[in-house]
Parts: sequence; C-alpha cells; structure tokens
Amino acid sequence: MAQQYPHGHVETDSELEAFYRDLEAMSTTALWRVLTQQITDEPQPRAVPFLWKYRRIRPLVLRAGELVTPEQANRRVVVLVNPGLKSECYASSTLLANIQLVLPGEIAPAHRHSAAALRFIIEGNGGYTAVDGEKTVMRPGDLVLTPNWTWHDHGNPTDGPMIWQDGLDVPLVNALDASFFEPYPGMQQAYTRPVDLSTEQYRQGGLRPAWERWTKPYSPLLNYAWQQTREALERMSKGAPGTPWDGITMEYVNPHTGGPIMPTIGAHAQLLRAGEHTQAHRHTMDVVYQVVEGRGFTIINGVRFDWEPHDVFVIPKWAFHEHVNASATDAACLFSYNDQPVMQSLGLYREEELVENDGYQEVTGAFTPL
Ligand SMILES: [Fe+2]
Ligand SMILES: [Fe+2]
Repeated sequence: MAQQYPHGHVETDSELEAFYRDLEAMSTTALWRVLTQQITDEPQPRAVPFLWKYRRIRPLVLRAGELVTPEQANRRVVVLVNPGLKSECYASSTLLANIQLVLPGEIAPAHRHSAAALRFIIEGNGGYTAVDGEKTVMRPGDLVLTPNWTWHDHGNPTDGPMIWQDGLDVPLVNALDASFFEPYPGMQQAYTRPVDLSTEQYRQGGLRPAWERWTKPYSPLLNYAWQQTREALERMSKGAPGTPWDGITMEYVNPHTGGPIMPTIGAHAQLLRAGEHTQAHRHTMDVVYQVVEGRGFTIINGVRFDWEPHDVFVIPKWAFHEHVNASATDAACLFSYNDQPVMQSLGLYREEELVENDGYQEVTGAFTPL
C-alpha cells in the first residue's frame, strides 16, 4: 500500500465530496488533493530543451533595426521564447535569452532595474556599455555585466552593427515579485570613471588592488575579455583533464571572492577538445549556451541538438546532457550562463551523473530547428 501510493491515498466518497465543497467555500482545500502537484518526486520544468539557429534569427534582428529605434523600443531586442514558456516569453524558468541590436550612431538609453543582466558579444567591434559611470569597449566574445540596479546604457560609435546576447534573471525576479525599473533622466548617464578602469584594476592574473574596498554582491569587473578567456582555455586544454561532463570548463568569477560573477547568474566558458565526447550528467540548474566557435552537438534527454557558431540552446533543470565536438581537428568553444548561484545559496543544488551505458545516453531522435 505504502509503496503503491508513496504520497498516501484517500478514496473519495460523497461525504468527502461535501467536505471538499465546504473547504472550497472557505477558500481552503485538503492537502492530500494537491500534494502530488505541490511536491513532485523530481523537478518538472515547463521549459523544454530547445535551440535557436543564429542564421535564422539574425535576419529578424536586422529587420527590427529597420522598423524601430532604441529610443522608441527602449531596447531593440528579439526575445528567444522557450515553447514551454510561451505565455511568459522566457528561455527557462529562471533565465532570459535575448538578442540585441545597436546600429551605428545609436544609443540605447540609460536605465536600471532590479533584474541582473549579462551581455555576450556576437558581432561588432568597438561599441560600448556603460555601467555606473564606467564605459567598457566591447568585442566579439566579451562578457559584460550589468548587475542588479546598476545604471547602464549602450552605444555604437562604429560603422557596423553591434549584436549581442542578453542573459537576464527576469523570470526569477518576477517569481519573487521583486521587479523594479527606473529610467535615467537623459539618454546617457554621466561617465565618472576612466574607460575600462575595472579591466585595468582586475585583470591582473590573480592579483587585485589591496586598497579597493568592494562590498557589493557582484563582480567589480565589467568586462571579461574573450581574448584572455580563450587564451586560458587554450592553455588548460594542453594538459588539464577538465571534467568528464564538460571538458575544459572555466568559471567566470568575482575577483574579490572567487565566487560567481553575480548572486543570481553564474557563467562558464568551455572548450571541447577535437573529437571530445563528454559523459552525460544532469543538475538542478538551468543553463543557456551560446556557441562561440566550432561545430558539434549536445544530446539532451536522448535528443541530438546540432550546433554551430552563435546558435543558442537551453538545457532545463534535471535534463541529462552530454556534449560532442564533431571536429577531429579543431576545438569547439561554448559560453554558458546559469542559475547555479541561486540554487547553491538556497541549498537546492544537486548533480547526478548517468551511470548506465558507461555514462552515455541512448540517442532516440534529433531536434529539428525552426
Ligand atoms: Fe537594461
Ligand atoms: Fe552540465
């Protein structure tokens, strides 16, 4: 009995039906009627594993550039919508994945919000993001942070489009009913610090200025330049074992704490060596990927998702996944961000490796991209 109904079992009769009606009239219910929905045996994300082809999305992003300005739209952004979260327009239960366009000469006006954001640059060289008085110059592959409640604006003084992926914790902030937004009085904020000062201060290879007092709960470094990240991945790929599930994977950290870059969003850069096929695992974090270089595929819950540069894909919580670099000669690099800092700080983080079949999933199908 106990095994057949691990949550318990109450047989309904007319007396109980009447009782349920009386409970409902008082805006109450019996826990045993909702227990299995409220406390599931394991995570039941509504988000599904999904992949967006950049070459299909890019023309739409550019079309948005012909139709609206950043002043009209506030942000000219195409939102990547997970089919399981259509009504909310979220990429996962806790993360957004958006593609933003800033054309030559344009400014995306300054504002701030309690949702935290990161930018991962896809195209363009020399546009900027300004955060709390400091401007940083952006190049492809750079990771730029605009943490919770920091003033930020973007501009493009170059002669080509700037396109990047925005990652935000909006779904989480909204689930917690904690969203605030404030426009800056004027298009651009006052720039009070030298351009890329934080890069100057914090990219010193394990050293930080001892006189800097930093008490904010996020990284003081605005821009994690791809050039340095790529060099680090390359160095590590020469001899370090990496992990069986992710290959050479490096976490972007707050130089003051060694911890995640922001309290709600963590990020990794990952290199899969030529021909590398990682083993499958799953975890209680959502991960959104952006392919930086190379070609390959990721098997998520048995389904193969093929990827190439700038494709974006999402692995929801507790989905088994393994990565494959399809090239026998070249490395593949992936950038990803996640909600791991939240899950870890709340004691909800779990990881599990696949043990059957030597840690490799049985492939049951292939994802057909739109
Ligand atoms: Fe913003
Ligand atoms: Fe993973």
